[in-house]
Amino acid sequence: MKPLLKWVGGKRWLIPEFEKKLNSVIKFNKDENSYFEPFVGAGAIFFRIKPKNAVINDYNWELINLYTQVKEKPLELINILKEMVKKLEVNQTYYYEIRNWDRSEKWINILDIEKAARTIFLNKSCFNGLYRVNQSGQFNVPIGKNNISNILDIDNLLEVSKYLNNNNIIMKNDDFESVGSLVKSRDLLYFDPPYDPIDSTAKFTEYTNKGFTRNDQIRLKIFSDYLIREKKANVIISNSSTEFIKKLYSNELEYAKSEVKYYIIEVVHANRNINSNPKKREKIKEVLIYSRGKEENE
Ligand SMILES: C[S@@+](CC[C@H](N)C(=O)[O-])C[C@H]1O[C@@H](n2cnc3c(N)ncnc32)[C@H](O)[C@@H]1O
Repeated sequence: MKPLLKWVGGKRWLIPEFEKKLNSVIKFNKDENSYFEPFVGAGAIFFRIKPKNAVINDYNWELINLYTQVKEKPLELINILKEMVKKLEVNQTYYYEIRNWDRSEKWINILDIEKAARTIFLNKSCFNGLYRVNQSGQFNVPIGKNNISNILDIDNLLEVSKYLNNNNIIMKNDDFESVGSLVKSRDLLYFDPPYDPIDSTAKFTEYTNKGFTRNDQIRLKIFSDYLIREKKANVIISNSSTEFIKKLYSNELEYAKSEVKYYIIEVVHANRNINSNPKKREKIKEVLIYSRGKEENE
């Protein structure tokens, strides 16, 4: 199974490091415990781990609608996409016709299955696989130079659909904290929030038109403390390697302190190539933060 979409901040590159943690410091039993991804995005790690019990969540409605439709109506989705691909082959301006759906009054009458097809279609034919919306929540990325034959991957869609149907996967479209009541002892939560910006120009966190502020980063840290302390859960968090994030998780910020030091912070090197300028396609430092073993907290 591969992710259905390209997504800013996609975590395919992190898979080896993540799997290493699962086999060593994090004790997670895939058959007994549940896996949570409250900021699932394209779900690179989720689709790799293939948990039997999971809760995936994202604030982005289009994304969760896509997973729901793939689960429930994969064949219908494939047929709609086939038609879209045919039309794009004839005329490239068809991209803008589809993109404009959410700018017209008919948007509310478009079926969820058609919206899901549009999500894949735009993601696979837009510039760099970006997801970006304007203040009104309308998709505004221009067409890219993509290979039209990559838009529809029938085998993968069917494989994902089968997996979502044959396992216990709960899908939610809400704020990350909403998963709290479902967490049980020894479950694993992987948080991959929109990143703390490295500088004020590095702002590519527009997955929704709501934004994710430093207050949200603090809210996430406090929520994570709670999950470790009260629910005895395991937590892994990704973020950018800023002073703010490092201080936040090492308890150096007065307003977000916990009694116990719950985390280990490791610097990892991402090969992020979101930037269209080749000069800026260098390895960016990120952090992988994870909860210490239970024994160490006691
Ligand atoms: C860095 S991306 C996740 C990337 C993902 N791990 C992947 O491999 O593709 C962050 C995600 O958080 C979502 N998001 C933003 N604010 C949120 C919130 N308050 N609660 C839940 N999800 C949120 C965004 O829609 C976005 O999909």
